[in-house]
Amino acid sequence: MSERRIWAGFGYQISLARGLTLRGWGIGSATTLHRRCPFCNIRIMNDSTIVVAGATGNLGGRIARALLERGASVRALVRHGTARDKRERLQQLDVTIASVDFSSASQVTPACSGAGCVVSALAGLRDVIVEAQAVLLDGAVRAGVPRFIPSDYSIDFTKFPPGENRNLDLRREFHKRLDKASISATTIFNGAFTDMLTGQMPLVLFKLKRVLYWGDADQRMDFTTIDDTAAFTASAALDPSTPRFLRIAGDQLSARELTAVVSEVTGKEFRLFRAGGLGMLGTLIKVARTVAPGEKELYPAWQGMQYMRNMFDDRAKLEPLDNDRYPSIRWTTARDVLLARQVS
Ligand SMILES: NC(=O)c1ccc[n+]([C@@H]2O[C@H](COP(=O)([O-])OP(=O)(O)OC[C@H]3O[C@@H](n4cnc5c(N)ncnc54)[C@H](OP(=O)(O)O)[C@@H]3O)[C@@H](O)[C@H]2O)c1
Repeated sequence: MSERRIWAGFGYQISLARGLTLRGWGIGSATTLHRRCPFCNIRIMNDSTIVVAGATGNLGGRIARALLERGASVRALVRHGTARDKRERLQQLDVTIASVDFSSASQVTPACSGAGCVVSALAGLRDVIVEAQAVLLDGAVRAGVPRFIPSDYSIDFTKFPPGENRNLDLRREFHKRLDKASISATTIFNGAFTDMLTGQMPLVLFKLKRVLYWGDADQRMDFTTIDDTAAFTASAALDPSTPRFLRIAGDQLSARELTAVVSEVTGKEFRLFRAGGLGMLGTLIKVARTVAPGEKELYPAWQGMQYMRNMFDDRAKLEPLDNDRYPSIRWTTARDVLLARQVS
């Protein structure tokens, strides 16, 4: 699928714009020699091979590209059913492809062999986030891969109890397996993708010249662009000393601050629009889930609303930030993203 709606009801479209060259894949052994990464100012494994699951996707494709830019070899684990056009669009990059059945450990294990890290950027519901990632994790462990980055890329769900956000609960469920596995795991929390502020996420209502918020207009939220998340993830994949959790935010701003930014960038006066309190949003989520359950959809409307409620909750705040861990990354602000929208 080259395009897919997320934040259903809010019109967030993702386009697969990147391609990876599909080639035969070989199995090598990870070397323990280290050199310095030109992007990260960290020691990285010499001739590192990084396995990326989900490299045909939006974030995963960008992670693959960022890894290549950092001098790594990338092996993409691609499911057998991946559309041919996606494979064809991958032709520009020097990526090795392993076509695997994500339910088969006997296929995934050799495909992980020799890698310094397995990075997952898979997207889906339980069958993907819990089940396919469990096979990927088992394969990585059996192949002796030392490190694993799960497909989290979200607000810090460790601060929320189960039941507040279905898609984040699935990640929490996978973490139970991950934390028992004999592999070093690193989760990357990035808040929301800043890119969504240009219209896909219902915060900036451009036509109405309003910035919509729930609860507190001064509650700061975390935003990181997809490219910056990919760059940081690539650097983390090549960094042998990452902790269990890394938190990044290209920008942190409240609805009130966002109103000032969007007014300045557009030259038009935007105002705050309080839709209600978090309690009311919680009630609306229950109603939306009852009326339009869409339980088999990844992003039914109520799921986007759940994420929004969590974003406006002080518990979601990412701290402390690890933005300075890889000094070469220049963080893109919400202003940068809104300005790019304005000139395009
Ligand atoms: N924080 C945020 O604001 C935010 C926003 C969006 C996404 N995210 C997160 O970013 C991560 C990547 O999302 P994305 O938007 O880049 O996803 P995406 O573009 O939809 O890509 C999903 C990838 O997963 C693969 N995949 C899906 N189902 C699979 C299955 N059953 N078996 C094997 N592979 C499967 C797809 O393969 P095919 O190409 O074969 O379909 C594709 O490579 C996810 O964790 C997502 O939740 C975060």
